Amino acid sequence: MKPGRLKTKIFLDSGDPQETREALRLLRFLDGQTTNPSLISRNPETAGKKFTKAELLEFYKGVVQEISRLIPRGSVSIEVYADKGTSAQDMLKQGREMFSWIPNAHIKFPTTKEGLRAAHQAIQGGIRVNMTLVFSQQQAAAVYAATKGARRGDVFVSPFVGRLDERGENGMSLIENILKMYKTGDGHVEVLTASVRSVNHLLAAIHLRSSIVTCPLRILREWTEKGLETPSDDFAYCAETLKRIPYEEIDLRGDWPAFDISHPLTDIGLEQFSADWKSLYV
Ligand code: G3P
Repeated sequence: MKPGRLKTKIFLDSGDPQETREALRLLRFLDGQTTNPSLISRNPETAGKKFTKAELLEFYKGVVQEISRLIPRGSVSIEVYADKGTSAQDMLKQGREMFSWIPNAHIKFPTTKEGLRAAHQAIQGGIRVNMTLVFSQQQAAAVYAATKGARRGDVFVSPFVGRLDERGENGMSLIENILKMYKTGDGHVEVLTASVRSVNHLLAAIHLRSSIVTCPLRILREWTEKGLETPSDDFAYCAETLKRIPYEEIDLRGDWPAFDISHPLTDIGLEQFSADWKSLYV
């Protein structure tokens, strides 16, 4: 059962409905699930199989429909295929189709110029979005500006903390910075802490009041073993030797194309998602 004082929504980061069942068994609640091309490529049912493009999409659809039935009141994120040549129109077309698969979808677009353009139009068309591969405050500002006018709950921004940690930067400090920056805005974007590597990340996300945190099953299992502990008010996140990311003063009233959204980890992440997805092709 969800601890009473826990306001942060807890999502599972997985492309496997069996793990959704296991997370529900362990936690007795689950507020949502995030999927992506790499997670789908690790679904046990894809082992040793090759698909045509159409078959692969049909497989993805079946997976998210099963997850959606398991957590009908939660949110399920579905990611469009994108590489560096994919246009906003192409992403939008995929997003529209995917949004029709289940009633509780958020569509994941990469936080690139084309991805932001697609999200900007998606929001106007009533499609909920989850902006992924976020590694900087400027990218989070661009997400805010590109989705202005959306209702709270319709836009998630997903900073990847673990991947920042892995290159020596304190990923949780980016969450702190984005939350601080968003306090100067209208609150329409929810921060979804992603790329979680430890229960410590999970507790820090709760302590910072990240709206959502998505975790692999092994972290949820570890958290269950710790009795679903929640951080005390004086919780101090220990980032050890990781370098704190400095806070930038950013005016959220800027036009979204004006923000500097380039980040090497976004490019690497996009390439990885694309490679994992294509590894399933015939
Ligand atoms: O949902 C996407 C995000 O959580 C990815 O995490 O483990 O691939 O860095 P990871």
